[in-house]
Amino acid sequence: MIHPRIIVVENPEEMGAVAADQFEALIQTKPAALLGLATGSTPIPLYRELVKRANEGKIDFSRIRSANLDEYKGLSPDHPQSYRKFMQDHLFDHVSIKPENTIVPDGLTEDVDAMCAAYEAQIEAWGGVDLQLLGIGHDGHIGFNEPDDHFPAMTHEVKLAEMTIEANKRFFDSVDDVPKAAFTMGIGTIMAARKVLLIVTGADKKEILRQTFWGPVTPQVPATILQFHPNVVLICDKAAYPF
Ligand code: PGA
Repeated sequence: MIHPRIIVVENPEEMGAVAADQFEALIQTKPAALLGLATGSTPIPLYRELVKRANEGKIDFSRIRSANLDEYKGLSPDHPQSYRKFMQDHLFDHVSIKPENTIVPDGLTEDVDAMCAAYEAQIEAWGGVDLQLLGIGHDGHIGFNEPDDHFPAMTHEVKLAEMTIEANKRFFDSVDDVPKAAFTMGIGTIMAARKVLLIVTGADKKEILRQTFWGPVTPQVPATILQFHPNVVLICDKAAYPF
């Protein structure tokens, strides 16, 4: 196995600053980089820091492209819990990134296969993902790639695991309002990124983080595939670090 570069930080705020350093370094050397972006609670301190640095003139987003990992099926871009809306609220509306340079899977698509193929094609047209940001679910999902008997290659539709629906109900009025399906980049899409940045905070993620890098590689814990990625940086806080 290829061990990731591991950076252990004190708390989520420090994770945000250290992860922002990774983005700042990339954008300085490649101003039109393609960023693979993630939603969820974990990246919020990172996005706060990126907005701050953009406003201070330290990071220029005007030529940056971005492709998000996933989107709920059936949610419109302006639905309060859609991942498009999350990205607008936490990053895009506060930096100079051009709307046409940001893509999130279309939750309302009527032609799933065509939407997924076009998503992959756009990533390829932009030269591939330079830096893929990832959080991790308690079941080891990355993007919305849930435990399965194989590693799905490309952007596709998924049925969400019960554990994921439970974990995400906090954002909705009730568990019944959580969409049961989503669109996500595949494991192959993620593994094709030149560099992967996994951010993990909180004691509740300690056990899944241990399994991810120090357990057997299996599609039952999708994040374990990262053991085979040649350029992974893990930033975790002390609470999540398994040792
Ligand atoms: P979280 O989600 O950051 O809200 O814990 C992570 C994930 O489900 O990938």
